Amino acid sequence: MSEKLLEIENLHVHYVVGKDVVKAVNGINLKVDKGETLGLVGETGAGKTTTALALLRLLPTYTGKIPEGSIQFEDVDVLKMNKKALRAFRGGSVSMIFQDPMTSLNPVMMVGKQIGEVVKLHNKEMTKEDVEQRVDEMLELVGIPKQRKNEYPHQFSGGMKQRVMIAIAIACQPALLIADEPTTALDVTIQAQVLNMMRNLKSRLNSAMIMITHDMGVVASICDKVAIMYAGEIVEYGTLRDIFDSSLDHHPYTIGLFNSIPLLNERTDRLQPIDGLMPDPSNLPSGCKFHPRCKSCMEDKCLEGNVPVFEKDGHQIKCVLFQ
Ligand SMILES: Nc1ncnc2c1ncn2[C@@H]1O[C@H](COP(=O)(O)OP(=O)(O)OP(=O)(O)O)[C@@H](O)[C@H]1O
Ligand SMILES: [Mg+2]
Repeated sequence: MSEKLLEIENLHVHYVVGKDVVKAVNGINLKVDKGETLGLVGETGAGKTTTALALLRLLPTYTGKIPEGSIQFEDVDVLKMNKKALRAFRGGSVSMIFQDPMTSLNPVMMVGKQIGEVVKLHNKEMTKEDVEQRVDEMLELVGIPKQRKNEYPHQFSGGMKQRVMIAIAIACQPALLIADEPTTALDVTIQAQVLNMMRNLKSRLNSAMIMITHDMGVVASICDKVAIMYAGEIVEYGTLRDIFDSSLDHHPYTIGLFNSIPLLNERTDRLQPIDGLMPDPSNLPSGCKFHPRCKSCMEDKCLEGNVPVFEKDGHQIKCVLFQ
């Protein structure tokens, strides 16, 4: 039996901006077991980063709201944690590699020191020598020679800066690592190197991971489970196989996602992107949120009401076609 690490239930996240309520996350359920990698996939604005920020309690103080839902991490209720517990939780139990590495590092602090600061924060009992040793180990783990620890971020290439970010994120051996589009700012060959490195790290540290991406290639190369997100909802969830096996049933949005990417082993004359745009989250459509773009939309079933989730052997699809 695999052991449960994280369970998100019926999570809703709103941003209140003036008179507008941006409904970024609308009742999602997610589970991550120890050591497992979950891919959180969806186009821009789907609510992926918002989900991660809610989990780390890093939503903007005044505008970010969680009107409903629960987040359990190792049997602790994350939404009820006090400041002290949160400090230990962030970086210690769960850490996040942010979307843009270039702006997340401190430009005036040597990279080794930036890693050391995190180690010290979570391991007050460590001596200076222990901290230095951990910094060296972390740099080595991400493939940066430890001699370079006294350099500043601007002396590193984009790929190396991303490696430093990863070293910071894993410095305290978190049980869960959230990687938010960790490779999109990098060029293709460096992307492959960083992904390879993350895969190796994952098996060495045995940490669980949430990999946020819109790239199905990234999903295929590293994830065990996949959640497809659309307009703040999970529209399909399953194992990597459930999602990638074209002989199985899929949500029309998932099918659209696959039709809009080129496949190397198939001749495609023309890609078929999904028509239309994601709805404005401050003015979501009634019924199924995908219905305005859906080729299988049925007037009598899809325009009103809540769409139930249909499940078969753990593979879940939120669409009335599978009733
Ligand atoms: N601080 C904020 N204030 C108001 N609206 C926000 C804020 N942050 C995000 N949003 C809105 O919430 C929705 C979800 O955004 P989010 O950043 O979670 O999407 P995402 O799936 O991570 O997209 P991307 O792939 O572009 O990173 C979007 O409509 C976005 O404009
Ligand atoms: Mg994002």
